[in-house]
Amino acid sequence: MSLTGQEKKALVDLANAARERAYVPYSKYPVGSSLRTKSGRIFTGVNIENAAYPQTMCAERVAMFKAVSEGEKEFEVITVVTDNGGSPCGGCRQVMAEFGLDTIVVLADGRGNIVEETTVKKLLPGAFTPEQLKK
Ligand code: THU
Repeated sequence: MSLTGQEKKALVDLANAARERAYVPYSKYPVGSSLRTKSGRIFTGVNIENAAYPQTMCAERVAMFKAVSEGEKEFEVITVVTDNGGSPCGGCRQVMAEFGLDTIVVLADGRGNIVEETTVKKLLPGAFTPEQLKK
C-alpha cells in the first residue's frame, strides 16, 4: 500500500485535531498521533499526563497500544504532531521498532505542516528487535 500526499495530510490533520483531547496539565505540551495499519484502519492517540509524572503516557504509544489491543500489529505510517514538530522520544521509538522498522514516521507542527518524513529504522539505528530474542 502506498501513501499519497493527501492521505498523509489527512492523517496529520487527524492527529492535530486529537491534540485537543491531550491531557497535559503539567507540561502544557499537547501531542497527537495517528497511525494507519497495513489493513487500512486508523487509530489516534494523545499524551496523557499524571500527577505522578513518570506515569505519563506518550501520544504515539497510546495510538499503537490502541491498535494492538484491537488486533492490529502491522503499521504503515505513524504521524506525530506537536506545537513545534518535535521528534518521538526514545521509548516510543523502541515501541515502534517492535512492530516494524520500515514503518513511515511523519512529524508535523501545530499548523499541520510536515517537518520531517522518516522511518523507524532511521530514528532508531541498531534497534533491539524481537528477532534478537530468537535462540
Ligand atoms: N511526549 C509524547 O507524547 N511523545 C513523545 O514522543 C515525546 C513526549 C509527551 C510526554 C509529555 O506529556 C509531554 O510530551 C512532554 O514531555
